[in-house]
Amino acid sequence: MAKPVARFVCQSCGAVTSKWAGRCEGCGAWNSITEEAVTTGPGLAKSATSKASRAGGGKGLTFVDLEGSAEPPPRVASGIAEFDRVLGGGLVPGSALLLAGDPGIGKSTLLLQAAAALADAGRRVLYISGEEAIDQIRLRARRLGLRGSRLELAAGIDMREIAASLDAADDAALVVIDSIQTMWLDTIDSSPGTVSQVRGAAFELIRLAKGKSFAVVLVGHVTKEGAIAGPRVLEHMVDAVLYFEGDRGHQFRILRAVKNRFGATDEIGVFEMTDRGLAEVANPSALFLAERRGNISGSAVFAGMEGTRPVLVEIQCLLAPNPGGSPRRSTIGWDSGRLSMLLAVLETRCGLRLNATDVYLNVAGGLRVGEPAADLAVAAALASAATDQPTDPSMVFFGEVGLSGEVRQVAGAESRLKEAAKLGFEKACLPRRVARGNRPIAAPEGIVLEEIGHLADLVARFGPRPGPAAT
Ligand code: TYD
Ligand code: MG
Repeated sequence: MAKPVARFVCQSCGAVTSKWAGRCEGCGAWNSITEEAVTTGPGLAKSATSKASRAGGGKGLTFVDLEGSAEPPPRVASGIAEFDRVLGGGLVPGSALLLAGDPGIGKSTLLLQAAAALADAGRRVLYISGEEAIDQIRLRARRLGLRGSRLELAAGIDMREIAASLDAADDAALVVIDSIQTMWLDTIDSSPGTVSQVRGAAFELIRLAKGKSFAVVLVGHVTKEGAIAGPRVLEHMVDAVLYFEGDRGHQFRILRAVKNRFGATDEIGVFEMTDRGLAEVANPSALFLAERRGNISGSAVFAGMEGTRPVLVEIQCLLAPNPGGSPRRSTIGWDSGRLSMLLAVLETRCGLRLNATDVYLNVAGGLRVGEPAADLAVAAALASAATDQPTDPSMVFFGEVGLSGEVRQVAGAESRLKEAAKLGFEKACLPRRVARGNRPIAAPEGIVLEEIGHLADLVARFGPRPGPAAT
């Protein structure tokens, strides 16, 4: 065995130094550097890949041209459609996936359901838990109503044992590791959850997955700051990173890909938490709009897109007078910088006075909207609140707003309109079509289009604020 070498690793960014320091030079974090000893030796289990790579040593690379037959990767559908959608069609054999999320958000539940579904479909699935005892997992399975399925369950954190079992599991389709922060390699002299341990265990598991052609899902915890606990390098090592997120006060859970080597990253999967586990939500718009109350000022329905799927959400805005100090701007589910920009445009280009007002903006239902296409809906909610006049409850809004107040085209207009029509909306407020050879938008049956060229035209529809509060 090689001699152990001491080194110092920042637990927040993974930077390695030869000397201890109070502050990491890499990321600026204080007291984040700990000593870790590493023994460099051969991998824990000998697999086909490591032998092959050693045998190939010294021969050099074989270069090829760009053409050639690139087959799409084969997929194994997990049986949970919302999960498969985010993956881009299913699990890819030999790939590694990181599922990250806050503690208690439902990661173990989601994976147990997916693993059991796949096992029921006749595939071999191994579920290794380092966090819960077998009895706990069985209890959960019973509560979720999962049949005695052929899922193979084990509790353990010792990577040497795990690697030995996986090395022998020739026909496994999926291996779940819950969580990567609990895994422990005896060749690394630091405790589980440290950068070296997380990286070492992940490296070993990914190597096994490639060699044995099973998909491996690593569960990763997220720190209070929202980063995946452990090093950033974990994100670079895996093929896909999925975040499972949601608001604790809400029943919705959203699965979102932030990296995917085998598919798009803008698809979301929507789930509803129930006492029998996670239920797939095939029509998220209906769910997000379920609690909407018409005829209230400060609310507008945004016809959004999440990946290829249109999603309708309600944007809510509340204004409160703050004549004194600096006004508050608070957003939930939307970018605060974008709100400031819209407020500035409404003030300077449309004459709406909002500088002595606190502004609270909320995307109802706990969804996080990242699209600039929501600008028009946010502006409508703001103008509606400022004038105390409700927006038309049968209208949806979408369009990007530029700095001079112009309303710009966005992609996916037809899908957005179709979804709005499906949910019974009758009007849509959208950007004006410009004569640039754009294909005219085909409005679905029953939807009236109201095109807006400048934000001032939208504000003008609301008229002045009634009563003595008018400015
Ligand atoms: P869990 O899956 O253990 O979260 P994580 O693995 O991300 O830490 O879920 C947390 C708790 O919530 C657990 O006690 C089960 C409960 N739960 C439900 O009752 N229904 C659900 O649909 C989900 C997702 C969780
Ligand atoms: Mg868990």
